[in-house]
Amino acid sequence: MRTIDWDEDSAAVRLIDQTRLPIDYEVLYCERVDELIAAIKELKVRGAPALGVAGALGVVLACKTATSKDEFERSIEQLKKSRPTAVNLFYGIERAYRAAKRGATRDERERLALAEAKKLIEEDITVNRRIGDYGSELLEDGDVVLTHCNAGRLACVDWGTALGVIRTAVLRGKHIEVIACETRPLNQGSRLTTWELMQDKIPVTLITDSMSAVVMRAGMVNRVIVGADRIVKDGVINKIGTYMHAILAREHGIPFYVAAPTSSFDLEHSCEEIEIEERSPREIIYCGNTQIAPANVRVYNPAFDFTPFELIEAIITEKGIFRRPFKRI
Ligand code: MRU
Repeated sequence: MRTIDWDEDSAAVRLIDQTRLPIDYEVLYCERVDELIAAIKELKVRGAPALGVAGALGVVLACKTATSKDEFERSIEQLKKSRPTAVNLFYGIERAYRAAKRGATRDERERLALAEAKKLIEEDITVNRRIGDYGSELLEDGDVVLTHCNAGRLACVDWGTALGVIRTAVLRGKHIEVIACETRPLNQGSRLTTWELMQDKIPVTLITDSMSAVVMRAGMVNRVIVGADRIVKDGVINKIGTYMHAILAREHGIPFYVAAPTSSFDLEHSCEEIEIEERSPREIIYCGNTQIAPANVRVYNPAFDFTPFELIEAIITEKGIFRRPFKRI
């Protein structure tokens, strides 16, 4: 099943609830834009390309449910505020919003926004396949790839970016193994990346984030591939922990690659101009429902970090591979 899609029968957004994996596989239907906004905030749907599609489909729901122009505009503003960092969310909203604006009636606006959202859904799959085609050339038979967070099919509509590169290489007959970092505090690596790869029977070993230096030093890894939430003019913003792996990869002479669609590029801005989402202290004080730190401890919980271009060997996109010093970007 696709991670996120439009369900014709119920006229709703259908998505895999990623907060339930890997224990339960549950499908969620959002008929109203406020339900979808809640799902985005709670990371039931997450990952930059999937957020782009969620943004576009959110516009469709806003067209469907709003009873006035004001209410429609308010819903769009709420949708934009659901998460601040991944640029794809704004890209998806903008595309469907512009399409909707061309309609004269509510029905027409909804139809046009839906047509645009469906286009984006199909594009996401094609783009990821192309990223896989280009990126798989960088992998050799026998490689062990370290990855962080989840940049797989669960972060997109299907196939994935970083994991899409690995999937394509495997499809082409290369034996590739993966080391997945757990990705504290929300564990997208241990919950989602391992689950996804095991479904596809791609060998995966789970480590905690703090073990990456040890596995690199021991020669257990020879490539790092991650996704991106936003590629700005001075580097890449991605899940917290990415920067640490990039520094370690440089120290150990291991190539560090980023795989992302060009819809994740925002070359107008630099890193310090982008809001890095800070999430609730609860995510660190608790592990699931178990308290693991004093309830009132001061917490710092940024969801993303910034990796400068000089630590990145290549960026794999659907338009080809860009190599350092990234003159063509
Ligand atoms: O907070 P999340 O789970 O939405 O963060 C996701 C990531 O950081 C991914 O690495 C990124 O979106 C790329 S997904 C292809």
